[in-house]
Amino acid sequence: MLAVSDDLETLLRTRQAERTTQFAGGTTSAWRLCDVASGAPCTVDWYDGAAVAYEKAGATAAPDAALIARALAIPIDHVFVKQRRQQKDRQHGGQYQVVARAQAERTVREQGLRFAVNLSDYLDTGLFLDHRPLRRTVGRLANGRRVLNLFAYTGAFTVHAAAGGARETTTVDLSNTYLRWAEHNLAINQLRGQHRMIKADCLRWLGESRGATYDLIICDPPTFSNSKAMARSWEVGRDQEWLLGRLWTLLAPGGTAWFSTNKQGFTLTAKLPAFTSVEDITAETIDTDFAGTTPHRCWRLRR
Ligand SMILES: C[S@@+](CC[C@H](N)C(=O)[O-])C[C@H]1O[C@@H](n2cnc3c(N)ncnc32)[C@H](O)[C@@H]1O
Repeated sequence: MLAVSDDLETLLRTRQAERTTQFAGGTTSAWRLCDVASGAPCTVDWYDGAAVAYEKAGATAAPDAALIARALAIPIDHVFVKQRRQQKDRQHGGQYQVVARAQAERTVREQGLRFAVNLSDYLDTGLFLDHRPLRRTVGRLANGRRVLNLFAYTGAFTVHAAAGGARETTTVDLSNTYLRWAEHNLAINQLRGQHRMIKADCLRWLGESRGATYDLIICDPPTFSNSKAMARSWEVGRDQEWLLGRLWTLLAPGGTAWFSTNKQGFTLTAKLPAFTSVEDITAETIDTDFAGTTPHRCWRLRR
């Protein structure tokens, strides 16, 4: 039997060969290589010539950067190891240790669009790879539409919507850093037009907004949030009914909203507003590089 380290090296080599074939053509250059959720000793993502490795919760040793570099044939300073400690959620997940240099910024491609990522300075990189299929869907449906992106992070959905010909986009997030990043992502794709960035607590903003204004809404909230800038704390399980009610109000007749969560064990409320259809589309929003894992659940809601 192979040692765990040999297993990981072989796994990474094999997966990288598969992904290179899967994403041949060069329009996408960032993908998941292996995942603790499907039995790997750590999670490793590929970002166009660099790798980010996340330690498995409770692991006794950090991922071996030298092994990962060898398996992927990249210099060791292109491997970024993150140790998740006391993590509660992907945006509020506390502490991590950076073992490589700071400000490791680069641009990766996804379906021909460009996204700035920072591999060293945050727990997350600026691009959640698991939502690649839903971003493609949003881009495909965006032409001429008014698009709202809530809890938008670095605006990856906004970029796809804008590139797909959205008539206007509205991007809401609590963080100035992420909104500036979203603007930068639009700029590096030469996407100009009616793209509004709103720094706000989505809960407050949704509470104050008045209705039927958007054709497409993307809502991918954190599991939990209690920033000082918020009027009250947020917990996706507890507060979903209120949120879904607000989405219904803001959605134009004939419009589509997508609601996604990465909370483990989440159950969608039975007390839904009067959407014409509510479909669990999780399976079609998970690409083959995430096969065997459920990084998020996702519903399509039509009005
Ligand atoms: C799970 S991420 C969203 C990921 C994003 N939809 C994507 O796929 O790239 C959570 C984001 O929600 C933002 N956030 C957390 N609480 C918020 C709040 N109350 N109002 C607005 N944004 C909030 C964080 O700043 C972060 O950018």
